[in-house]
Amino acid sequence: MDISTSREPLSTQSVDAIAVGATKSFADELVELDAAFGGELVPALEARKFSGAAGTSVRVPTFGKLTAKELYIVGVGDRTEADLARAARHAGRQARAAGFTSLALSLGTVDNPQLTLEGLAAGNYSYDVYKAEDGQTPALASVVFVGDADADTIASAAIRAKWQSFARDLVNGPAADIYPETLADAARTLESLPGVTVEVWDEKRCAAEGCVGIIAVGQGSARKPRLIHVRYRPENAKGHIALVGKGVTFDSGGLSLKPSGSMQTMRCDMGGSATVLGAIGAAAESGLPLALDCVVGAAENMTGGNSYKLGDILRYSNGVTVEIHNTDAEGRLVLADCLIKASNEPGVTDIIDAATLTGAAAVAVGPDFAALFTGDEGLATELLDAANAEGEGLWRLPLHKPYGSMLKGKWGRIKNLGGREGGATTAALFLEHFVDGPRWAHLDIAGSAFHDADHADYAAGATGEMVRTVVHFLEQRAG
Ligand code: BES
Ligand code: MN
Ligand code: ZN
Repeated sequence: MDISTSREPLSTQSVDAIAVGATKSFADELVELDAAFGGELVPALEARKFSGAAGTSVRVPTFGKLTAKELYIVGVGDRTEADLARAARHAGRQARAAGFTSLALSLGTVDNPQLTLEGLAAGNYSYDVYKAEDGQTPALASVVFVGDADADTIASAAIRAKWQSFARDLVNGPAADIYPETLADAARTLESLPGVTVEVWDEKRCAAEGCVGIIAVGQGSARKPRLIHVRYRPENAKGHIALVGKGVTFDSGGLSLKPSGSMQTMRCDMGGSATVLGAIGAAAESGLPLALDCVVGAAENMTGGNSYKLGDILRYSNGVTVEIHNTDAEGRLVLADCLIKASNEPGVTDIIDAATLTGAAAVAVGPDFAALFTGDEGLATELLDAANAEGEGLWRLPLHKPYGSMLKGKWGRIKNLGGREGGATTAALFLEHFVDGPRWAHLDIAGSAFHDADHADYAAGATGEMVRTVVHFLEQRAG
């Protein structure tokens, strides 16, 4: 998506469509356009009960009155940053549905053009790879932002939008296409960015390195597990952070098999890995002066003659032993190896992990939020502020230590299953056993990573939420 700015009058913008923002006072705001339409625009909007609410629009053919073919009057609500971003998102979506490849966006004074442009790009996203030809629509190739946005802002918005889409493509991809080896291939494409190297451990190397969780979860599948380590080492690094992602490329539940309905969307279970790979990709492409390590545990959780079993006991390389009480609580087992590895990486001060970890988190915060767990107040503030700045949903839940007793093992130190209550918290407390040294925060993105049906803000499928939040957090750290 090529983004440029323009101050040319709307009537001469040569684009497929123009999106013009309006509030409930549209009759006063659209005087000039109304005149261009011979006074018929405002009555048409009134007839269609246009309210100016953000996320609504009225589409009008231009009948040659403007150079553009179509005009969208898009509601901008109260003109808050969030409303303007929502309006842009809506415009992006309308443009995609209509098959337009060029769009001029004219929303009046926009204080945060970056957020608005990111909204436009996110709204324009659609996963069409497997759609019938007549169901496929092109993405916007060029966008004209009518207003002021400096080149840095535009470049930054374009980079974030690109990597959010990268994450969404990975998550939307069926498990037949995205399995541990191909997820590693996707990570390897980051090596084209300056300062990035990628190391992939195959199943033999994982076993030799003592990654017992990745091996156990992956051993029932014909698609062998991988540990993916992306390193970003810029010059003049001002800090060193590790990102960890759950990369369960399909979660059948294993022998604790999921019912079909719950299994349907489980290609999304590598959403955490897509989030952190997208974030490190954006950071590297921006040349952020921050050393980063991104560690992904990639495994397919399947039933089979070699599946891991209930009652198995895993001995992790940090000495913690774990009894398996449910093979569907697999994400924490995979993440444990990655958290140990990230903790052992010299110089790392903070670890942020992202994982579609528990249905309990999704039940607690719903589809519009990821759940944040951390014992570090400073890190909590930084991440919540970052999400807020990016217009993404993040809500803190308690990392309540006393619930740790629910994980107490009988044969080993802990078990991989807590009680029914506080399930997202006990999963987070499980992870904490494998963090040693750095500050740590955990993002349970089970609710917001993927929506089976269309959502107010996103087309059905992957959202890529938290990519931009993590990037924003990293950018703040880089100063
Ligand atoms: N991948 C699932 C969690 C999930 C659920 C992600 C819904 C996205 C949407 C995870 O591996 C899982 O199965 N969790 C179990 C944990 C339980 C067995 C303790 C769950 O949430 O039911
Ligand atoms: Mn599971
Ligand atoms: Zn899972």
